[in-house]
Amino acid sequence: MSSSSTLASEISQAQTEALSAIAGALDAAGLRSVQAELAGKKSALTVLRSQLGKIQDAEERKSAGQAIHACAQTIEAAIGERMALLLAGERAQQVASEAMDLSEFVTAKRRGSTHIVTQATQRLEDVFIGLGFQVAEGPEVETDFYNFEALNMPKTHPARSEFDTMFIEPASADQEPNSVLLRTHTSPVQIRVMQSWKPPIYAVMPGRVFRRDTPDATHMPVFHQIEGIVVDKGITFAHLAGIIEAFTKAFFGNEFTSRLRPSFFPFTEPSAEFDIRRANGAWIELGGCGMMHPNVLRAGGIDPDEYTGFAFGFGIDRMAKERHNVEDIREMYTNDLRFLRQFS
Ligand code: DAH
Repeated sequence: MSSSSTLASEISQAQTEALSAIAGALDAAGLRSVQAELAGKKSALTVLRSQLGKIQDAEERKSAGQAIHACAQTIEAAIGERMALLLAGERAQQVASEAMDLSEFVTAKRRGSTHIVTQATQRLEDVFIGLGFQVAEGPEVETDFYNFEALNMPKTHPARSEFDTMFIEPASADQEPNSVLLRTHTSPVQIRVMQSWKPPIYAVMPGRVFRRDTPDATHMPVFHQIEGIVVDKGITFAHLAGIIEAFTKAFFGNEFTSRLRPSFFPFTEPSAEFDIRRANGAWIELGGCGMMHPNVLRAGGIDPDEYTGFAFGFGIDRMAKERHNVEDIREMYTNDLRFLRQFS
């Protein structure tokens, strides 16, 4: 070491080289080997340090020592800073590559929507509320009494066999077999409403019903109906026809009309089947209706000499199917998002 100014420039050069090696390290492992090199026996700074002892002048030696120390600190700080930066980058990369992407539905900005059968039910309720009806609901697990007996279908009635009933296993040995079932229609809610409300009654009762049926393009073992009753003084068949027509126009549109065809149901007398007519002239069968049988009014605790009433009931799934031109009713229940999203 010839002079202090040469020493100073050698220290500064060692620092510049060290700093550029640190900046050039592309990952933590690379930086670690740079660090080891800088601390190693052959590094410029180590060599300079080992030559300190050769400086004769004590003052000069002291200031050279301080300069080397300051240089070493600068290098150490630069390593620390660079290491923190590289480690953070590597950590972020690892997190990104190992992360599971759970954001699919969020980033797609898709929200759930009401099913078309629910949409139809809500629209039906709206229309009937507009006509002055109230909405009621009843249980899906029913007793033989409400599902059949009270609707004028005693045990031996042949119409019972038309409802492919699913029964619930008796809960105990003393419970009569086949006395508890999944309701086959919404008609039992008529009885429950009459038992708990006082006339005048204007009610619609939507809900899920069950029948032992093999699914095909037009049938499901679980489907939906809406029931309606009007119980008041002086109610006649003309009122029934008027409500059916008003409903048809309000729900389907003014270009639709309705008709009633004579039919038979144990719970109504006379009974009718009602159809609606599309603008193109095609008739679509919707449901059944009629004047409530006196036995049904009695089962509901209503005196048939004082009050008369009419009832109607029809399938909601069928209406949703017609409205949206769904070809196969099973499509409505496979939960295929490509199908469901068409109606959201
Ligand atoms: N409960 C009948 C069924 O499921 C439909 C029905 C017909 C309901 C006539 C009524 C009615 O209220 O009066 O097939």
